[in-house]
Amino acid sequence: MQDPLEDVAAELGETPGFFQLYTPNDRELAESLVRRAEAAGYAGIVVTLDTWTLGWRPRDLQHATFPQMRGECLANYFSDPVFRSRLEKSPEEDLATATITWALTFGDPTLTWDDLAWLRGLTDLPLLLKGICHPDDVRRAKEAGVDAIYCSNHGGRQAASAPALELLPGVVAAAEGMPVLFDSGVRSGVDVVKALALGATAVGVGRPYGWGIAMGGAAGAQHVLQCILAEADLTMGLNGLRTVAELGRDALIRL
Ligand SMILES: Cc1cc2nc3c(=O)[nH]c(=O)nc-3n(C[C@H](O)[C@H](O)[C@H](O)COP(=O)(O)O)c2cc1C
Repeated sequence: MQDPLEDVAAELGETPGFFQLYTPNDRELAESLVRRAEAAGYAGIVVTLDTWTLGWRPRDLQHATFPQMRGECLANYFSDPVFRSRLEKSPEEDLATATITWALTFGDPTLTWDDLAWLRGLTDLPLLLKGICHPDDVRRAKEAGVDAIYCSNHGGRQAASAPALELLPGVVAAAEGMPVLFDSGVRSGVDVVKALALGATAVGVGRPYGWGIAMGGAAGAQHVLQCILAEADLTMGLNGLRTVAELGRDALIRL
């Protein structure tokens, strides 16, 4: 979490990586981040739509957890030439001012549908919108020229009780063949199979690999992912499915 995007890209090997863009209200900074992601070899830009404002997070509030406000987890910004040009003193000299400057970069969130044209014009890399759950938004995203939809409620960390899997079929239908990535609430191989059966192109997990890291570092994360893959594989086999291409809605039973 403390590593700039270039260092993360250097560890990817053959695995394609997406760069998440929290779109700052400073457009030159946004462009700088996109250019760095291009130069570092990322396969696409994921524009996250999650944090228009923070949701109600009792555990974070209880522990006063917001590492960025302590100047942590900001390596992408502190290493950015445009961000640094906004500071009179470097983050190494004056961490508090650099941190406040970062916070203000997101202090007036102004990203709208109209801004997508600007983002689209910035880069030829595939553009993915993360946090789309409604078919109307899928259609707007398509019109704006995005390349893929990331159907997600961000793990419910914004709005409690927000559905996700239930909304996936509508998103897939509206995408009309455009790739649809999915996450939120995936905890097992069976969950992966369900999302694939409902039309997801790829399925992601958030907290589970974090729990793996907490228990056993990188090996713990690897173990969690291997367990999920193994269960997905066995579940497919138990249902007589040899490939993901054979997996469709008819694999599911509506009660
Ligand atoms: C600690 C934490 C930090 C996250 N940060 C981001 C983020 O910066 N941007 C984002 O789009 N989603 C963020 N998410 C949501 C994840 O990207 C992902 O959508 C979610 O965790 C998937 O749901 P799951 O945790 O139920 O698997 C975060 C989730 C967690 C648990």
